[in-house]
Amino acid sequence: MRMIPPPVEPFRIKMVEPLGRTTRRERDKLLRDAGFNVFGLPAEKVMIDLLTDSGTSAMSDRQWAGIMMGDESYAGARSFYRFEKAVRDVFGFDIVIPTHQGRAAERVLFETILDKNSLVPSNIHFDTTRANIEFRKAKAVDLAGAAAYDPEADLPFKGNMDTGKLEAFLDKYGRRVPIVMLTVTNNSGGGQPVSMANIERVSAICRRRKIPFFFDACRFAENAWFVKCREKGYERWSVRDIAKKMFSFADGATMSAKKDALVNMGGFLTLNDPALAARLKNSLIIGEGFVTYGGLSGRDLEAIAQGLTEVLDEAYLEYRTAQVAYLGRLLDEACVPYVKPAGGHAIYVLADKVLPHLPRDKYPGWALTVALFREAGIRAVEIGGVMFGRKDPKTGREIFPALELVRLAIPRRVYTASHMIFVAEALGSIARKPERVKGIRIVEEPPFLRHFTARFEEID
Ligand code: F0G
Repeated sequence: MRMIPPPVEPFRIKMVEPLGRTTRRERDKLLRDAGFNVFGLPAEKVMIDLLTDSGTSAMSDRQWAGIMMGDESYAGARSFYRFEKAVRDVFGFDIVIPTHQGRAAERVLFETILDKNSLVPSNIHFDTTRANIEFRKAKAVDLAGAAAYDPEADLPFKGNMDTGKLEAFLDKYGRRVPIVMLTVTNNSGGGQPVSMANIERVSAICRRRKIPFFFDACRFAENAWFVKCREKGYERWSVRDIAKKMFSFADGATMSAKKDALVNMGGFLTLNDPALAARLKNSLIIGEGFVTYGGLSGRDLEAIAQGLTEVLDEAYLEYRTAQVAYLGRLLDEACVPYVKPAGGHAIYVLADKVLPHLPRDKYPGWALTVALFREAGIRAVEIGGVMFGRKDPKTGREIFPALELVRLAIPRRVYTASHMIFVAEALGSIARKPERVKGIRIVEEPPFLRHFTARFEEID
């Protein structure tokens, strides 16, 4: 019998799909064919896919029923009004603009408000957000507190922005800052939440200077759940009211519905400023579609509306966060170090600690993703030197990010506790004999978001 009690899934399974089963020899060939980049693997060859929690949720019977009810009218579809009402009920902003996913919302927003002198602070920008900002030749600035970069600091709100740093930054560069963002939960910093108190302070700083403040709200429900569990005074609040309060401090949000709206595709922008919304809608129509569908089908809008209700079910959120924490406790047992505490949607393994024989320029994080697939058909994602490494323009040498992580992102309502045991055992077996894992060299890389398509080689 295992000592660690698994969380009980608060659902039963009505439809199943087989897992990809392969031999080690097949996986070796698959890796070679994919240029040692797990993004290049055919998904049906993956046994447990922890690449992302984005767009990978299992939808409920009610969401599937909603799909059948989708109104596919070009303009003014009934499904749009249902979606708009659901977003307004949870987020509280007047205007709701659908987009095909989160980065489309980011593109529409940044295309409209940034120029090449703009600076955009956040706690830590996610990679697509950063890329969308940099594509406008503007600069994305991370102002998370020091704890965000300390994987051992077991603190409740490591997603917080350092408000002292924010004030100093705005004193110096305020005129160049058209928007301040806050990512909840802070994905690139370990899926860690931001406290209500921090949100309130960031908001006050921005309001005083009349700078719009937006959330990157992909995982708002997980953030609200952590506020309920960890922040004094919110124990008796419903997560819906906590979410409402969080949003009441902001001027708007970008949202990838592929996370906390429990759907496979979708996103939106929501805000109060009608003048800004009019400009955003112009950009939307050029790139995404008419304002009542924005790159989505009517059936997608139905599924999002239903998903936004289900994600605020506290039995679901309790299980969701407990499942991630459960994997964390299994990894503790297997002596695999990770960012503490466990995140809301993922565990972030400290790859350089698991593979201490590999220096940063041999990309231990990337090497660990290759090893995990080879070992057990598990797919994870590197968040380290490949994803965030930058060439120093003067010396041409690579500058590495503070942390070298491999993220095990848990799709929502998809895998069971026994799948988590399988994952922990595979990682434990790699960690017991790290020297079997080879370093990595980049052979080919594109200029933006290189981790998606770069090709690699294993080196001794
Ligand atoms: N913001 C955050 C914090 C994200 O995590 C993501 C996506 C996006 C924005 C963009 O949303 O994918 O709908 O365009 N994160 C995924 C991930 C890809 O794996 O963490 P999108």
